[in-house]
Amino acid sequence: MPTIEENQQTWDKSYEWEQQGDEWSSAWGGAEAQWVGSILPRIHAFIPTGTILEIAPGFGRWTNYLRKSCDRLIVVDLSEKCIKACQQRFANDSHIEYHVNDGRSLAMIPDNSIDFVFSFDSLVHAEADVLETYLAQLATKLKPNGLGFIHHSNLGQYQPALSLIEQIPSEMRAEIVNKVLLEPTRWRAGSMTARLFVNYCDRVGLKCIGQELVNWENESLLIDSFSLFTPKNSIWSRNNHVLENLGFMQEAAANKKRSHVYSIENKQVGS
Ligand SMILES: C[S@@+](CC[C@H](N)C(=O)[O-])C[C@H]1O[C@@H](n2cnc3c(N)ncnc32)[C@H](O)[C@@H]1O
Repeated sequence: MPTIEENQQTWDKSYEWEQQGDEWSSAWGGAEAQWVGSILPRIHAFIPTGTILEIAPGFGRWTNYLRKSCDRLIVVDLSEKCIKACQQRFANDSHIEYHVNDGRSLAMIPDNSIDFVFSFDSLVHAEADVLETYLAQLATKLKPNGLGFIHHSNLGQYQPALSLIEQIPSEMRAEIVNKVLLEPTRWRAGSMTARLFVNYCDRVGLKCIGQELVNWENESLLIDSFSLFTPKNSIWSRNNHVLENLGFMQEAAANKKRSHVYSIENKQVGS
């Protein structure tokens, strides 16, 4: 159960950020290969655009690409260390605005101002109440035809199994099941699910229009969801299309293979 305080402690204090988060892209062959091969194909219809809000940018792994896809970029993170790192990294970009928040509030964002809200590889560590709070605020922050793409935990789908396992004495648990189910939780939020995301949208006048449930690293459980949403009366509103994709890491492996030939990441100066 990662709490906001634990996230704060981890990302603001204990985590070293030696490669600015690029270390998490190694399965894809680097951040550039992951962006071009796995993120952009999922959001290409929504960018470039006017104003993007990125929630939880860390040291700017995706900010580095989002900044080239909008007139204005607002980034909000609960870690002051992360926001300072982004300010330094993108010091030449006058169109980026930075905010440290409390892990919940978007009060600094004007209503009706956001064309596209994005978060990737961050809110998987946020419990359901955090997602609910962010969505309630995004309902007023998005423009009438705005869109959102948020990567969050679906681990709660396996909660009944997790609860059963928690009843097994811990010494036996380590032996028997940690490797099967508990280890693969990867610090995902156990209370959050793709279904809850749909409900939270419905409650506040948003419509969830697409969800891709995926596995992560070498796991064979759909522990994550990429959820797409829009105001319920927007021109993009439609029934939710759901895809269960257990081949997500095969996609990563294909990206990696290709990146040896096509990536110019290590040759770019100042990126
Ligand atoms: C694993 S890092 C990922 C950063 C970046 N998205 C990336 O992929 O490189 C998680 C980030 O989420 C931020 N974070 C976690 N929970 C948050 C919350 N509730 N609100 C805002 N930021 C949060 C952390 O401070 C950290 O910067």
